[in-house]
Amino acid sequence: MTRIIHKEDKGPMQIKVGNESKWICMCGLTNNQPFCDGSHKKTADEEAGKVYQYNPDGTRTELK
Ligand code: FES
Repeated sequence: MTRIIHKEDKGPMQIKVGNESKWICMCGLTNNQPFCDGSHKKTADEEAGKVYQYNPDGTRTELK
């Protein structure tokens, strides 16, 4: 099964667990859900108003 999800965040959300910081993925690209693994860096050059699809082979396709 495949699911397409619309995400606009380009970075993680920090939460505190006791005195420890945890970084939750908000971009949807991590391979370590729910935690950020740095994959959001791929979104740095996205342009406003455009839609991108991130493919399993690591490539990105501009949809519009
Ligand atoms: S916010 Fe998704 S990988 Fe960092």
